[in-house]
Order: sequence, then structure tokens, then C-alpha cells
Amino acid sequence: MKFFIDTADVDDIRYWNETGLLDGVTTNPSLILKSGRDIKEVLAEICEMVEGDVSGEVAATDYDTMLTEGRKLAEIADNIVIKLPTTMDGVRACKVLTDDGFKTNMTLCFSATQALMCAKVGATYVSPFIGRVDDMGVDGMELIEDIRTIFDNYGYETEILAASIRTMNHVKDCAIAGADVATIPPSTIEKLIRHPLTDKGLEAFLADWEKTGQTI
Ligand code: E4P
Repeated sequence: MKFFIDTADVDDIRYWNETGLLDGVTTNPSLILKSGRDIKEVLAEICEMVEGDVSGEVAATDYDTMLTEGRKLAEIADNIVIKLPTTMDGVRACKVLTDDGFKTNMTLCFSATQALMCAKVGATYVSPFIGRVDDMGVDGMELIEDIRTIFDNYGYETEILAASIRTMNHVKDCAIAGADVATIPPSTIEKLIRHPLTDKGLEAFLADWEKTGQTI
């Protein structure tokens, strides 16, 4: 399973990139706002730092301007993935940009039929938003399972990029359901490695080691 980091904070990206755990980065307009940086400048810095795919999102909602903005974003670096909203204009723009050889990430996906449309036009990634589906009182993980089944039924190569991840269990359940990628906020990646019994066990081992009086 690939891990992308869901942030435009270059310090967090640098730290996690050095761990060897990162396979890519996703950004969105809200994350760009949070970074306080210019979108092109920050994406260029991230793309240079990270080898894998880096999603940059268009701000336009109409087909023509999505194409213009998508092509401008793709000029930033070879590892830019053009992120487009899952609307009819977005799907049409995805088809053209994919045919032109660009990588695409269809965002704000909330249903299996939306994901099917994205796969049919050859999107590189589709991003179902698990956390926001959960917020509506519906199980977001069912969406991942349904999309996995549909893509496998027909051999679609579009990768399922599980987004809006809020908990460790989201990551675990996505891995079980067969999501290809999880894009995870820095605060949640940190939690994936932590376990209270690991901390407790280590404390006991260190106390006993101290008593041996030995060094290695
Ligand atoms: C990533 O591509 C999405 O933009 C992001 O995961 C959305 O997460 P949120 O629902 O926590 O804003």
C-alpha cells in the first residue's frame, strides 16, 4: 500500500520523506491556504523534495479553464498530478488531460458511480473521501470496498486513493479493503507507529537493562 501525505507543509513533508515511508503528496486549496504559500512556489518545492506523485488541484470549475489550469500546474514538474473535481466538467477535462499523457487525480468522490465514471475516462487516481462520508452517518469504508469490487470486475487500472482519512482504523481498514493508496495527514501518520504496550514494554526492558549494569 502506498502512503501519500495530505499536506502542503514543507517541513512535515521533509521529515516524513526522510523516513522512507512516503510515496507521494496530496494538496488541495484548503491546504495551500493553511501553508500561507503561493501554490506554484510551494508545489515546485515539494516536487523537488519528493520523488513520487504530487497532486496539485485546479481552482476552476468549468471545462476550458480546468484544462488551462491543469496544463499550467503540470508545467511545474514531471511528478505533478493534476487534481480535478469529480463533476461532469472535471470528468471531461480528465479524459483530455489523460489522453495528452498527464497524470490525474479525481477528487471529492463520494459515490461508487462517480468513481466508475473517473475510471472509464482513464483517471490515474480517484479519491473517495472516507472521513466526510462518515460525517454524514454513512460508512465511508463501504465506498472503498464497492469501488475495489467494481474496478476489479472490469480490470480498471485507476488507483483508489483513499482520502479524508482521520484515524488509524481508517488506514487499517483501507489496507484490508484493498485501497491502492492512503493519503494521510501528518498527525495521523505519527499515530500509526505508536502503541501504549510498546511504550510500556520498552520502559520495563530499559529498567531491567539498567539493573544489569551492562553496556553494549
Ligand atoms: C486529499 O486529497 C483530500 O483533499 C483530503 O484528504 C481531504 O481531507 P479532509 O476531508 O480532512 O479535508
